[in-house]
Amino acid sequence: MKNFKRHIITAALPYANGGIHIGHLAGVYVPADIYARYLRLRGRDALFVCGSDEHGVPITLKAKREGITPQQVVDKYHTIIKKSFEEFGISFDIFSRTSNKVHHETASEFFSALNEKSEFIKKITQQYYDEENKQFLADRYISGTCPNCGNENAYGDQCEKCGSALSPTDLINPRSTISGSTLVLKDTEHWFLPLDKYQPFLEKWILEDHKDWKPNVIGACKSWFDMGLKPRAVSRDLDWGVPVPVPNSEGKVLYVWFDAPIGYISATKELTPDWEKYWKSSDSQLVHFIGKDNIVFHCIIFPAMLNAEGSYILPENVPANQFLNLENDKISTSRNWAVWLHEYLQDFENKQDVLRYVLTANAPDTKDSDFTWKDFQARNNNELLAVFGNFVNRSLVLTKKYFNNQVPEPQDLTEDEIAVLAEITKLRLAVEGKIELYRFRDALKSLMALARLGNKFLAETEPWKLWKTEPEKVKNILYIALQLTAALSTLAEPFLPFSAAKLRGFLNLSEAIAWDKVGTELLPIGHQLAKAGLLFEKISDEQVTEQVNKLQATKNANAAKIVPPAKENITFDDFQKMDIRTAVVLEAERVKKTKKLLKLLVDTGIDKRTVVSGIAEYYKPEELIGKRVVVLVNLEPRKIRGIVSQGMVLMAENHLGELSFVASEKEFAAGREIS
Ligand code: 2FM
Ligand code: ZN
Repeated sequence: MKNFKRHIITAALPYANGGIHIGHLAGVYVPADIYARYLRLRGRDALFVCGSDEHGVPITLKAKREGITPQQVVDKYHTIIKKSFEEFGISFDIFSRTSNKVHHETASEFFSALNEKSEFIKKITQQYYDEENKQFLADRYISGTCPNCGNENAYGDQCEKCGSALSPTDLINPRSTISGSTLVLKDTEHWFLPLDKYQPFLEKWILEDHKDWKPNVIGACKSWFDMGLKPRAVSRDLDWGVPVPVPNSEGKVLYVWFDAPIGYISATKELTPDWEKYWKSSDSQLVHFIGKDNIVFHCIIFPAMLNAEGSYILPENVPANQFLNLENDKISTSRNWAVWLHEYLQDFENKQDVLRYVLTANAPDTKDSDFTWKDFQARNNNELLAVFGNFVNRSLVLTKKYFNNQVPEPQDLTEDEIAVLAEITKLRLAVEGKIELYRFRDALKSLMALARLGNKFLAETEPWKLWKTEPEKVKNILYIALQLTAALSTLAEPFLPFSAAKLRGFLNLSEAIAWDKVGTELLPIGHQLAKAGLLFEKISDEQVTEQVNKLQATKNANAAKIVPPAKENITFDDFQKMDIRTAVVLEAERVKKTKKLLKLLVDTGIDKRTVVSGIAEYYKPEELIGKRVVVLVNLEPRKIRGIVSQGMVLMAENHLGELSFVASEKEFAAGREIS
């Protein structure tokens, strides 16, 4: 790491209109927290700041839908989010919010500074206005017919059917997705940041000076550069947000993506009067932890803003992650396809570290990755418990048994034993090297390598066998095992803070040992250990099944909501051609060698005829006798498995493939026409 004097670590400000899920955690908060905890253990001057992102159109819409104010919406979610982060051990120095006074002032001042330097262009453009709701609409809230493929539900920014990028004025018959009303174009004036002006500077800064950034981040920036940066509006017509600090601009606020990153600065300001030291000295390191959907804002727009303002440092790195999927499907808030942090904390009490471990071991750091409950269980049971927990437990239990819970005095360490001790420093260096490259998944592997080493050492030396014959040797073995255990208590702290604290308790250490000491004698001879317990517990099959069932229930509920699209209209004449009648089942039997088919004899009123129907999985033949059903009687006869079927029994099928008869409400006699 370059010789920075201090560090300012930011994690993307979550929108205060929903909870935090595992995708957010894996992409942003867990890696950011590992980095912040690591810096602190190294004794660095580091601030870790975050807060909730409380502006923007979705929050105003949620408020409208729920009949409350936007402030009430953000108050509710700010509290939920803050609490769940705290319980999960995300060690922010401050978790602030963008609706507070400091932020409004900071964002206003930032805007004014740029405005005074004439860094904005003012432009009048025409935008769609919803007269019913009396508001200009953001692109996402406008829908209409796609000029390319005719999809009637294309959005103002994109047609999801043919994939073409659109602007609202491309849409045919644009309407408001909020009120459904048709829209009118109205003039409106806004402030634009001319990103094109900053392109040369940004290209040099990223592509030449920061070749070390993650390839996915550089790739995303390159594609923006290739398209050519364009001026971007930094204000909106809305009544919720930071008001544009310019006279006569009522009804205009700063664009949420203009004010949100300034939230990092205001949070620091709220935290310490020394905030400028962190944000304005060239020997400070600024690192933004974000997900891939935020790359353009943190690598292009915010740096352009900071550069235009002139007195701030720029991020030294933006280690953005790819996305985490859940059970092979994209995480989606609207489909509720997610594992929510507040629910996890309820379902898995005191198991924060298990989730932290799994999300790090399986982090979407170079490509999208997948979270499954089976993997969650396997990693807990086979890695945390069987490797880490097992080693610690054996070391502590044996020390208690043989040495009264005190660190024994070793004598004449063998070469092999010295080599094991030397591994501690090597692995510490491996962990820190990888953390500093933001490769947390690899860093965790090196941490686990230390626990594996300990396990292997105990398995090979078998102190429980030597105790009777060569107790001196056992002293050496357990001395080494305890030094490894103490090393683990520090090196694990960034990744598994709850377990590290527990382990410190077992080792009778009042605070974490400084990172740089790992490799020296951490537990002196004679040091008294405290009472030990278990670091990790088994995750049972039942616990996993419960979670999988919960997801399955979500899937079913979603599927039930999906209604097949309407078919093309038919004429009345077409309809009249169908002869649909009430009928009664007289006989029913299985069609041999088939699973699904029943052969029915039905009384149609006209005649008694045979109909073959694919309902054997849902009805037993004997249940059907006497049942009133509805039959399409003039469907051309068809041979099915050698039986001529004369008509079709009408059924409805749900999303689970279950069938149900269409029947008449009253017990009508066979042969009544349905029209
Ligand atoms: O994508 C999001 O969830 C945004 N609320 C992130 C904002 S990050 C920063 F700029 F504040
Ligand atoms: Zn289209």
